[in-house]
Amino acid sequence: MNETVTPLNVVETTKRLNYGTWRFQKSWNPLHVVDAEGCCFITADGRRYLDFSAQLMCVNLGYKNAAVIRAMEEQARTLPYIAPSYATDARARLSELLLEVLPKGLEKFFFTTSGTDANEAGFKIARMYTGKTKIIARYRSYHGSTTASIAATGDPRRWAMEPVGKAPGFVFAPEVNCYKCPIRHSYPSCGVACADYLEHMIANESNVAAVVVEPVVGTNGVLVPPREYLPKLRKICDAHGVLLIADEVMTGWGRTGEWFAVNHWGVEPDILVTAKGITSAYVPLGLCATTAKIARHFDDHYFAHGHTYEAHPMTLAPAVATIREMQRLDLVDRAKRVGAYLGERLQALQAKHPSVGEVRGLGMFWAVELVRNREGKEPFNTMRDKVEGRPLVVDQVAAEMMKRGVSIQAWVSHFVIAPPLIISEAQIDEGVAALDEALYIADRAIAAS
Ligand SMILES: Cc1ncc(COP(=O)(O)O)c(C=O)c1O
Repeated sequence: MNETVTPLNVVETTKRLNYGTWRFQKSWNPLHVVDAEGCCFITADGRRYLDFSAQLMCVNLGYKNAAVIRAMEEQARTLPYIAPSYATDARARLSELLLEVLPKGLEKFFFTTSGTDANEAGFKIARMYTGKTKIIARYRSYHGSTTASIAATGDPRRWAMEPVGKAPGFVFAPEVNCYKCPIRHSYPSCGVACADYLEHMIANESNVAAVVVEPVVGTNGVLVPPREYLPKLRKICDAHGVLLIADEVMTGWGRTGEWFAVNHWGVEPDILVTAKGITSAYVPLGLCATTAKIARHFDDHYFAHGHTYEAHPMTLAPAVATIREMQRLDLVDRAKRVGAYLGERLQALQAKHPSVGEVRGLGMFWAVELVRNREGKEPFNTMRDKVEGRPLVVDQVAAEMMKRGVSIQAWVSHFVIAPPLIISEAQIDEGVAALDEALYIADRAIAAS
């Protein structure tokens, strides 16, 4: 700590000046985090918390990776900023590396400062390139908080923006969710009818520029599609001249045990959007990558889009270091191997706790879904409960885990478990043990209902 700074009661000041979460902030009681290392963060009172969801599923390398920190220092000393129209070492190096690790066919890059503005860029590119306007997204999805990305978001974070606070031109298809199919089918006899439904929409909407999907839905429940889904969607898009946008903001960068989730099914999107793990969240960077064919369109068309901080060198240099560290530590393969162990440990909880409806995931990306009853798959809470600030069972379980030194992300009626990719098996045991102990709250809630 810098000794010349006047001592400050951080929590008190934060609450008094009201620069909190903006989220039911009256009852907000923040933890004051002062340090972090490896898979843990540390609060001012000296408590250490295992970060079982890598914050917002983004600190993939864990905290204090020396190579990434060094890259940030060196870039700050050399060239802290230059406008995006100039060439820089960091941009050239990152672009070369992206060609190595991104799915085949993605060759041109637009650099932003977050996932939401990478999606904004993707939607604009899709519209300008195709000359069409509509984008089909799915209900169980999150694509960001700015006007087009929130319009593409199927989950309740969109509701407050209806109808005028969001960009027009977005329509919603049913998600792929084989645990609780929104169109009441069951896999495999359904023949992946949710994809057929989406094709029906394309045919009847007309003027569709693109379909945007999280290849594995993230915050909304780590929904892994059956193996036919994405290849089928790719074919449908091709048949109708519609672009396929993969939003890999959360699923990219080894999270699912592949560099990118689409690789699991050999699908090449026309546009891929990512952020978060691209710098292990050390600095804010987003990326919108397109095929060379789409990019060529803009050789002689005006691309009416850009940012002061586009391709900011302070964000690109740590991305180079992040990718090299991922390669050096073989983290994608590690996510697959150690992630399988995490999955096994979580699946064992299902046998023990009646409140666990399903455990699903792949790589280092898992959801534990809580239900009031397994037969009806009825959740403890609804999306409406979340929006209206009613107490959620998942939040109570998460708070109990915090008491045991484990931090976890909860959403409506499930947890998203996505630790740093460097997590050890012993730390997985520690995190799973805390969840195991805290789940008594949900088990009891069944008895009480
Ligand atoms: C799939 C997906 N897309 C987009 C976003 C938005 O990214 P950001 O919060 O960096 O704007 C998120 C954020 O969680 C996400 O999970």
